[in-house]
Amino acid sequence: MKVVSENCKDLRALYVHQLRMLLSAEEQLIRSLPDMANWAVDEELQQMFWSHQQETELHVTRLIKCKAMHALIEEVEDLVQDARDACVKDAALIAAAQRVEHYEIGAYGTVRQFAWVLGENAAAEVLDMTLKEEGQADHVLTSIAKRINVDAKHAHTTVA
Ligand SMILES: [Fe+2]
Ligand SMILES: [Fe+2]
Repeated sequence: MKVVSENCKDLRALYVHQLRMLLSAEEQLIRSLPDMANWAVDEELQQMFWSHQQETELHVTRLIKCKAMHALIEEVEDLVQDARDACVKDAALIAAAQRVEHYEIGAYGTVRQFAWVLGENAAAEVLDMTLKEEGQADHVLTSIAKRINVDAKHAHTTVA
């Protein structure tokens, strides 16, 4: 017998479920971003990770609880361990971080839309605020990547 998930019984249930997933993802990121900052070699990239960690704490306070992103975070650890070159290591960190930001951008865009349709206007505004911050974080990573990737192409320095 096929059981219909309670999470999909109506739009409001789905909306709450999606919010829980986002909260879990953000909570995992709070634990992961300090590692990423410590692993990063480039100073601008380090600062980007630290400042987005503070933003991520804010994102958690704007949400409620869930599950996802675990695979993305494990992938970061593998990538960093495999990188022998400092710039390649940073390029790998940026690649992983941008995947996370795009996950967040997609998820926040969806829940913001659900909130609007459900008449949850205050929630929609707060979710929109977070969505814009995720977009900005992605934008900063793109600009750092433009510099790092060129260095990574030519670099021969070895990291411990
Ligand atoms: Fe976030
Ligand atoms: Fe983010």
